[in-house]
Amino acid sequence: MANIKQNYLNSHKIDNSKKLSLFAKNLKKDYLNKNPNFIIIRKFEKNRKLIKRKLISFSKNLGKICPQNSSGDKYLEIKPNLKKIKKIPKSKQLEKVRYHESNAGGSIHSDGPQLNIPPKYLLMVCIKNAKKGGESIVTNTKKIYDFIKKNKPEHLKNLKKNYFFERRGFKKSKPYVLSKPIFTSEKNFKFRYLKEYILSGYAIKKASLSNKKRMSLEYLDTLLSNKKFQKKYKLNGGDLIILNNHIMAHGRSAFDLDKNSPRSLLRLWVK
Ligand SMILES: [Fe+2]
Repeated sequence: MANIKQNYLNSHKIDNSKKLSLFAKNLKKDYLNKNPNFIIIRKFEKNRKLIKRKLISFSKNLGKICPQNSSGDKYLEIKPNLKKIKKIPKSKQLEKVRYHESNAGGSIHSDGPQLNIPPKYLLMVCIKNAKKGGESIVTNTKKIYDFIKKNKPEHLKNLKKNYFFERRGFKKSKPYVLSKPIFTSEKNFKFRYLKEYILSGYAIKKASLSNKKRMSLEYLDTLLSNKKFQKKYKLNGGDLIILNNHIMAHGRSAFDLDKNSPRSLLRLWVK
């Protein structure tokens, strides 16, 4: 387990850095492209009016910002959809509302699995967190890969096969379903997973998941939700987390709904 202190930087390192591109280059070299493969920058920007602009100008130094839907949105706000949630009983919430619109926890995934090449870096700046819950969960999928290889190689074989993914949010893309493996080769390691999009991908294709594949997905889910592979961090308003999205899966713990001003994060993808 990486030393927790190793995963934190304070914003003064950015403010003091005259050459932002050099700072970003070092960040990739020292944190994102090698263990721990993620970084939290505390107090990146507290001023809500400046957060968006600062996130965008900072991200450009990491690479090319990529759109998150067919409307071309380069950043999205992740917060519960109070209008939708109000109408649905809690037990049925995740069937009716998308994960990012809910206040549910779990569902450890990678971002952009519906893209031909998922974004390399995922940046999320916290605008406001919930009082209770809402911790960010990160999981190193290389460790999970090694664990499966050692203990259940038959599942790894299945997880390296192609699965259908709904290209959700990219309606203009044809075909609307993508066929890709969950784990790719060890040399150019890549993890691609969001179970909801796989299930809807199969529904669109009117295809059924084989029993073997379904069991391998269930096994993967148990490992992703196993605490021994997870690290949890609570972001405060103004904190930024950056993940290597090809290696680190992420999720969150459930959180309390503040009806006036709920938990909210700004998300950006970089190629
Ligand atoms: Fe996500």
